[in-house]
Amino acid sequence: MAPDRGFILWFTGYSGAGKSTLANMVAAELRRIGKRVEVLDGDEVRKNLSQGLGFTKEDRDINIKRIGYVAHLLARNGVVAITAAISPYRETRDAVRSLYPDFVEVYVRCPLEVCIERDVKGLYKKALAGEIPQFTGVSDPYEEPLHPEIVVETDKETAEESITKILRRLRELGYLTSSREASRGR
Ligand code: ADX
Repeated sequence: MAPDRGFILWFTGYSGAGKSTLANMVAAELRRIGKRVEVLDGDEVRKNLSQGLGFTKEDRDINIKRIGYVAHLLARNGVVAITAAISPYRETRDAVRSLYPDFVEVYVRCPLEVCIERDVKGLYKKALAGEIPQFTGVSDPYEEPLHPEIVVETDKETAEESITKILRRLRELGYLTSSREASRGR
């Protein structure tokens, strides 16, 4: 990868699995070592770029393709584009992967029961009560990645351990090369 090119770090997983938390933590680490980083978070994107979209397959696909499109624009201009959206459909994730060669998929694996237990936003309770239709994992599908570059297991690892795993793998893949970037010895 040319030094002026960025890459896409694509987090996928259930709501409440920990995508945003990890995305923001990785972003902070990468900024610390001098990278230009942008985080595209599903919740945020849905307030602006994807305002008005719902959660049908069609709307989710539009949302994901928009995020993928912006991520590839950023990446080709040297930015590390980190995305955090459920992105439940494998084919749609593969479609955004095909937009840009330097694409790293991170599967934030967490059993649904644990996400329900955490229920950070209180949405699972509502979904289980039938108040939110088409809720991922409850009444809508989530298709696990088959060959993600990275898998983190947020019910078994601390966030710090997951971050270490992600940075180590990015280094193995050749995305973090300078000695400065290796300096923390993760
Ligand atoms: S995606 O499917 O299009 O990738 P995205 O990540 O942008 O979803 O948004 C998911 C967030 O929207 C969830 O974390 C949750 O806060 C909220 N949300 C509201 N309704 C739903 C729903 N039906 N399914 C999943 N998430 C929902």
